[in-house]
Amino acid sequence: MSRCPTLETARLLLRPFEENDVDAYTAVLQSPEVRASLHLPDDVGRYEAWLGMAQQLGQWELRGTGQWALVEKASGEFVGRAGTHRPERADWPGIEVGWALHPGHWGKGYATEAGGAAVEYAFAHHDVDALYSVILPENTASQAVARRLGFTLSETRVLSHFPELQHGIWRLARQRDET
Ligand SMILES: CC(C)(COP(=O)(O)OP(=O)(O)OC[C@H]1O[C@@H](n2cnc3c(N)ncnc32)[C@H](O)[C@@H]1OP(=O)(O)O)[C@@H](O)C(=O)NCCC(=O)NCCS
Repeated sequence: MSRCPTLETARLLLRPFEENDVDAYTAVLQSPEVRASLHLPDDVGRYEAWLGMAQQLGQWELRGTGQWALVEKASGEFVGRAGTHRPERADWPGIEVGWALHPGHWGKGYATEAGGAAVEYAFAHHDVDALYSVILPENTASQAVARRLGFTLSETRVLSHFPELQHGIWRLARQRDET
């Protein structure tokens, strides 16, 4: 059984990636809007989608972080991915919360809904004082999701995974009860 749990929000199922998500996830990565936001090459395809799905599942198994496949409960449609990410990179700020949806599902509040569940899950299952979101300064849609979840921009710097541009490092501190 996968270490990736299945969660439910009001409108979404957050579940482990499955082999037959590959077509729908390929469609997410191939959409011009997602390619532009994530700076993906024009020929991104099934190979990268399947590898990405496998990497998510592998990260869940190895360290209990990873992204979920998001499914719209009302239709059963694959919506995209969201969750946490802690790559083996010395300059990564910590546990990141991230999201990527098919443009057909933008503007419905799904990224914020799934992101909120990811934040809650991450603080409940990882002993960290803060979560992060790593966002390019041009990606205002992603910044808006981070802001809605309570993240604030803490610094801007170049990260080794993408040295061409500066990234904004958005931070959300754990709320501790003052008891
Ligand atoms: C970043 C991304 C996930 C944001 O998607 P999004 O749909 O704008 O964000 P949300 O799901 O939070 O939806 C918010 C919008 O839904 C609207 N909305 C409609 N119904 C809603 C509801 N019931 N509840 C909440 N919001 C709702 C909000 O008003 C808001 O609209 P606005 O942007 O016009 O103000 C999306 O643009 C994406 O996948 N981009 C490509 C991948 C990417 O860049 N990932 C991040 C890398 S750092």
